[in-house]
Amino acid sequence: AHLPRVTYANTGVDLTPLHDFLDARLPDFKASVLGRTHANSIGGKDDTAGTPFAVCSPIDGVTELGSFFAASDQAVDRAVGAAQAAFPAWAAMGWQGRIELLRAWAKILYARKYDLALAALFEVGKSRVEALGEADEVFDMVCYYCDEMERHNGYVTPLNRVFPHESTVSILRPLGVFGVVSPFNYPAALLIGMSAGALVTGNTVVMKPSEGCSLTARIVMDTLAEAGVPPGVVNLVVGGNETGAALVEHPGIAGVAFTGSYRTGMHIMRLINAGPYARPVIAEMGGKNPAYVSKNADLAKAAQGVARSAFGLQGQKCSACSVVYVDETVRDEFVERLRAYTAGLVIGNPEKRETFLGPVYNEAAAHRMTHALEAAHAQGAVLFGGKRATVPAELKGGQYFEPTLVQVDKGHVLTKEEQFLPLLALRSVTSLEEAIAEGNDVLYGLAAGIYTEDAAELEYFLNTAEAGALYANRPSGATTGAWPGVQSFCGWKGSGVTLKGGLGPHYLPQFMREQSRTVL
Ligand code: ALA
Repeated sequence: AHLPRVTYANTGVDLTPLHDFLDARLPDFKASVLGRTHANSIGGKDDTAGTPFAVCSPIDGVTELGSFFAASDQAVDRAVGAAQAAFPAWAAMGWQGRIELLRAWAKILYARKYDLALAALFEVGKSRVEALGEADEVFDMVCYYCDEMERHNGYVTPLNRVFPHESTVSILRPLGVFGVVSPFNYPAALLIGMSAGALVTGNTVVMKPSEGCSLTARIVMDTLAEAGVPPGVVNLVVGGNETGAALVEHPGIAGVAFTGSYRTGMHIMRLINAGPYARPVIAEMGGKNPAYVSKNADLAKAAQGVARSAFGLQGQKCSACSVVYVDETVRDEFVERLRAYTAGLVIGNPEKRETFLGPVYNEAAAHRMTHALEAAHAQGAVLFGGKRATVPAELKGGQYFEPTLVQVDKGHVLTKEEQFLPLLALRSVTSLEEAIAEGNDVLYGLAAGIYTEDAAELEYFLNTAEAGALYANRPSGATTGAWPGVQSFCGWKGSGVTLKGGLGPHYLPQFMREQSRTVL
């Protein structure tokens, strides 16, 4: 209770005690958690049907994190069946019973926070601060959704203002089985967040995490069992695209909660709604998140916030700032400050306390980075960074790059398309209005940030930026760092297919359908 908490936003906090705990757990975690074989979980039982695969850490490309089984179509079918069988009792338990169980689960997640952090560190190559932040976030997330359920009295609302002889209530009821499909970059927070949303509202769940993050998913699964969540209420099937497709194409799925790429999200939405009736897809997808640095900005804050947001987790956040629009009168000073701040960010093994940037996730990401850097060099546009990072021999199997700033013209691909890399585009602009118009002219609308000390500019930004999450003057991250119950993570346009965001106050009703009950 006396330990500092990591919230992505608290850059000034001394995290030494947390590092000490992490170090104390590290040898035993390596010895007892890494390198084992893990089954899927269906109806509370271990299930090993499917093709075996091994997961190695992106930190060095060779450390084996575990072996798993890519669930076959039949295994997925069994998992959906188990979730269907568990649904009536879970729904009938009522929200009070469910939140009691889920609050017990949150405590267990908190008790295992160092394991969750270490799993994310090894699976994703996430820095310690990011990994500890994620582990703290999952606790807050489960608690927040339980609190929301309670605050809304389980979403039971008396209606009827007109007919005195009748009594009517509106109730929101669960839908059935949710498929939860989660990405690699927040292996605990996104899997847990979407599952918690489905569970607290009375649905049962089949989880399909990103295959490289199967270890975190297995730990999460074990914590659910430990909390006493009944068998079949949550099921785990790991694997790649085929396992995911088998899940979202299954007719027994009542809805899908998805976080991942635009392409996959839109594909799922079209697929699931090609059936006989529409089913919900609660999707958070990509981003092309701009930051605006006005001539009235505090440039120290701006440089720090943009660097942390662009290069934290190697730029592999849907919320990452990947394009910065800078007023030309402060452009040179801003670039210099950004260069200086970024030069102080340590690249290397995330096991080390001082590391800020680890590896990019896989060879596909390295390939995209190499390609983008070649193009930028050919255009003579690299302002700093621009090559592979020098790392010690033991990390040679990982993919490490320098955080890179590239100057671009209007309409350049780096101002339009999500990269998911430690690669930031800079546009030099003459007016804030034009910059915001450019920043809005993209497929996405997840987050946007501004640095200005001018009230009218701030007001203009707040009223015109097309994104679900806006931030002003945040030194910890220009566009990153959303937290449960604090920001709502609502993707506009191609960043989401729903109009309400995860982490926010309107998330839960999306997992339910309404029924009005009139009784005389
Ligand atoms: N919650 C994370 C952020 O906002 C994704 O950066």
